[in-house]
Amino acid sequence: MIRERAYPVEPWHVRETRLDVDVLAQSESVFALANGHIGLRGNLDEGEPHGLPGTYLNSFFELRPLPYAEAGYGFPESGQTIVNVTNGKLIRLLVDDEPFDVRYGELFDHERVLDLRAGTLHRSVLWRSPAGKRVRISSTRLVSFTQRSVAAIRYEVEPVDEPLRLIVQSELVANEVLPAQSRDPRVAAVLESPLESEEHLALEDGGLLVHHTRASGLRLAAAMGHELDGPTRTTLSTETFDDWARTTVTCVTQPGERIRLDKYIAYGWSSERSRPALRDQVGAALAGARFSGWSGLLAEQRDYLDAFWDTSDVRVEGDPEVQQAVRFGLFHVLQAGARAELRPIAAKGLTGPGYDGHVFWDTETFVLPVLTYTLPSAVVSGLRWRHSTLNMAQERARTLGLNGAAFPWRTIRGQECSAYWPAGTAAFHIAADIADAVRRYVQATGDLDFEREVGLELLVETARLWRSLGHHDRAGRFHLDGMTGPDEYTAVKSDNIYTNLMAQRNLLAAAEAVGRHGDHAWRLGVDDEETAAWRDAANAMHIPYDAELRVHQQVEGFTQLQEWDFAGTPPEKYPLLLNYPYFDLYRKQVVKQADLVLAMHWRGDAFTAEEKARNFAYYERRTVRDSSLSACTQAVLAAEVGHLELAHDYLGEAALMDLHDLNQNTRDGVHVASLAGAWIALVAGFGGMRDHADILSFTPRLPNRIDRLEFSLVWHGHRLRVDVRERETTYALRNGDRSGTVDLLHHGERVRVTCDEPVTKPNPPPSAVGPTPQQPPGRAPARRASVAESAGSAPPIEPQTPGKPQA
Ligand code: BGC
Repeated sequence: MIRERAYPVEPWHVRETRLDVDVLAQSESVFALANGHIGLRGNLDEGEPHGLPGTYLNSFFELRPLPYAEAGYGFPESGQTIVNVTNGKLIRLLVDDEPFDVRYGELFDHERVLDLRAGTLHRSVLWRSPAGKRVRISSTRLVSFTQRSVAAIRYEVEPVDEPLRLIVQSELVANEVLPAQSRDPRVAAVLESPLESEEHLALEDGGLLVHHTRASGLRLAAAMGHELDGPTRTTLSTETFDDWARTTVTCVTQPGERIRLDKYIAYGWSSERSRPALRDQVGAALAGARFSGWSGLLAEQRDYLDAFWDTSDVRVEGDPEVQQAVRFGLFHVLQAGARAELRPIAAKGLTGPGYDGHVFWDTETFVLPVLTYTLPSAVVSGLRWRHSTLNMAQERARTLGLNGAAFPWRTIRGQECSAYWPAGTAAFHIAADIADAVRRYVQATGDLDFEREVGLELLVETARLWRSLGHHDRAGRFHLDGMTGPDEYTAVKSDNIYTNLMAQRNLLAAAEAVGRHGDHAWRLGVDDEETAAWRDAANAMHIPYDAELRVHQQVEGFTQLQEWDFAGTPPEKYPLLLNYPYFDLYRKQVVKQADLVLAMHWRGDAFTAEEKARNFAYYERRTVRDSSLSACTQAVLAAEVGHLELAHDYLGEAALMDLHDLNQNTRDGVHVASLAGAWIALVAGFGGMRDHADILSFTPRLPNRIDRLEFSLVWHGHRLRVDVRERETTYALRNGDRSGTVDLLHHGERVRVTCDEPVTKPNPPPSAVGPTPQQPPGRAPARRASVAESAGSAPPIEPQTPGKPQA
């Protein structure tokens, strides 16, 4: 596990000042670079030592069998696993006659810095070989946001004391040997040699490899080209074989001189395109990269990120650790989704092989809400991808005897890949999660073209699913039986409250969208009778409630189940799913992750303030947070019901999930939903932002240690900036053309914001709240107050210059 404060607290960098080979796999995930299309783990340039080598292309997968001891009807037959593709980031170095390897010789300095504004990973090293030869090595790596198929590395070596013969080998390597993975069932299955060679070719100053997968039938091309700057007598040559290409640079360099190699890497893959077409595609991408050159690529990267931070930065005064973490989180969210372009955003992004590289509901429920208000174009792409898989979801619904579309619980290409149906197929709520992402995006942007072309069909097909899944009882109430909600420790039950409330909104949103796009809806076969049936179901949706305890039930009968013996559960038995049978978890009141509490966030309009407070306290005592998707939601609700310090603790957990490796599995990739959750915890928690209706509402209130919180939201093309201080909140519009108005609610009061003048409103004094709710023994989040105190306070927020991010 990465120790606390492994990375010094800095506002815009994640810095590792000393190489710790024991935690290499974790730091490879933290330092992973991606653009939504290409993902490079933060492996050392020379490839070894490594925790887990990893290079990924979004949706480049291999099929693997899903063996069942006892098969059943409708079980998916094969799984999909992300493939570690051709590694183009390898650069090995021979110093005189010894390979540069941090395990040998002496390492004086070793620093790696992830620069969140430059979008680069920089490494600088001072090393002495076992023969006593000292060299300085530095490398800077980027995965381009502006040139989607391109990554690049600047690699420099300099002798320190005496002339040295330096040999740099820059490579492309396919079918790398991967270390064995852990026993944790969530970890990706290892695929040995998944790539079959089709072609290898030496280029003028680089090489190209083409491979394909055996079962999934995908073809991949990877190419590299170089620009060299070194002493006059420097030679460069390339050789290629089936699984590798190597460009070798040789020279003798004097102290004070250096050799510099700029490496451009291009990737392309396709299920359709021919070998020549792919070869030309990567050739063209390389040409484009070289045309920009290293400094051009760096400048484009910086401009792209300047624009992103200008609309998306969140500033937190008083808790510098959270400040750093929320930016780190936003950076990884961006890396996961920026250039996915009709491909999914996976739970680990493109940072590791965890969960086989699958996409879950994490995307629509945690990641897309953040992107809706920061980078809406990425939401269009994510939902268009879902839409492109609609035929598979429809087919799956038919297999299950249902109407509409049954989207997969986990997948890469669109087919259901979950082999465990109680926590897979039965988690039908993913349909409503997708529908809600559509609703939110359209509400926040007014993009009716998107709604007509893409959103409408997603809404209609998911509404049809709900209508066919549920039934009206004799009293007319509508029930959804046999559902698994977000809490995977409660499965296949009646009337999961989260599912019911989200399905309710799904049914109504579909009926409303049909009203807006009558002709298109008619073409989808929707008539008045059908929308009336959706409305009836929504209006009659059963919401389980325990009148005696005066709390809602997560599922029908939940509050009558036996209590879990928390006192008798030692800390090492968590996560419970790895230590207790599902049978036992399912029949007791133990909650893996926010479920009813999540319903109180996204469907907060369905609960009164008093109900929220009572429910929150009840479920806190039973929620163990064995999923990283829980803390952010608990932060949001803790803040809403007035437990601001507890909310701050949960914010810390969500934000530091990977920087502190809190769940001890960052090695498999970062937790993109939890990182997005840091933004959610701040904006929806302390900003109190809700988007239940077509007007944004805010109920800002800060915990003791956060003095000031500033964030921006894109709303109908306007850029709304919210600046929360202890006693007041200022809303400002920052539109380029200085026109437009935004109406919003501040603690229930309607406020109009124009570009002319910011509006400042007082925050009402905090109302009295009861005692802080308790968690199961040993499951309380780490206390933030003391940590924030010892980390010192952040520099004050300076006034903002439009177009430039703040230091
Ligand atoms: C959680 C799911 C989540 C998945 C991927 C599981 O542990 O329970 O809700 O979708 O991880 O992040």
